[in-house]
Amino acid sequence: PGERTALKDRIRRLLKERNAVMVSHYYVHPDLQDLAEETGGLVSDSLEMARFGRDHAAQTLVVSGVRFMGETAKILSPEKRVLMPDLDATCSLDLGCPVDEFSAFCDAHPDRTVVVYANTSAAVKARADWLVTSSCALDIVRALKDKGHKILWAPDKHLGNYIQRETGADMVFWRGACIVHDEFKAFELEALKKEHPQARVLVHPESPADVIALADAVGSTSAILNAAREFDAREFIVATDNGMMHKLRTLNPGKVFYEAPTAGNSATCKSCAHCPWMAMNGLAGLAHVLETGANEVQIDPALGQRAKVPIDRMLAFTA
Ligand code: 13P
Ligand code: SF4
Repeated sequence: PGERTALKDRIRRLLKERNAVMVSHYYVHPDLQDLAEETGGLVSDSLEMARFGRDHAAQTLVVSGVRFMGETAKILSPEKRVLMPDLDATCSLDLGCPVDEFSAFCDAHPDRTVVVYANTSAAVKARADWLVTSSCALDIVRALKDKGHKILWAPDKHLGNYIQRETGADMVFWRGACIVHDEFKAFELEALKKEHPQARVLVHPESPADVIALADAVGSTSAILNAAREFDAREFIVATDNGMMHKLRTLNPGKVFYEAPTAGNSATCKSCAHCPWMAMNGLAGLAHVLETGANEVQIDPALGQRAKVPIDRMLAFTA
């Protein structure tokens, strides 16, 4: 504990010295969430992280999360220095959507509007008409459908299928998945619901359809947080990365939160409800990058300009 306190003090001092501000995602370690908030930064979902980074005056942004979040920050503010505790922190959705294959998929459907989830590389974003996160995907696809667009969706199949069920839009899908949310199991969730019949079920839409079908609220990490606050209930079952529990519990002290079951939490479970890439963010790495300027996110400027177009559209739509 002494070492942790010393590291946190060092980070606070370095953030000030370097004129840096930190944004953290809800899935990173509680220490990194708290530090971001305490020092004038933000802990939030991927959409608000992007907006905050773009609008903040600091010339150095520290992004605690996964690679696509750091890249989005850099694309939106190419003049700023964007640092990450670990540049190898990626995402199974990004890994599962290589740009060459994705471009070929787009070429095969020239009549479709390309809508891409934020959890992708800069090159994939550069090929998209629209970017979305889980907090605005439904509204954006609904608006496109109302204007007569047919959609090409990538990469998360569960989120895409959920949006199609909700909007009835004409969509073709890339078949990617999040290794964390893909593990939630409906059969075990039903059993847990029986043990806690008063509990409300909160589900991130990267989860499989049969898990979503059991939800009282479906939405992004911030939507889950709002639902927990607004529901007049004492118990909740939560199907998202368990990094989320920190904010849920601190903001709702009188309420009880249970983790939704994954694949029996067996040895075969790849993630057990915590993203291995989010877990790569730590205090030591953070202190090191602030000290040395290491781990700066770099994006080719021409590519960044093209990738910025669909991101700007999303931010204007949600403003
Ligand atoms: P949110 O946009 O809901 O924060 O989700 C990001 C993410 O990576 C979920 O797994
Ligand atoms: Fe990607 Fe899933 Fe990790 Fe989010 S939780 S960063 S979607 S692998």
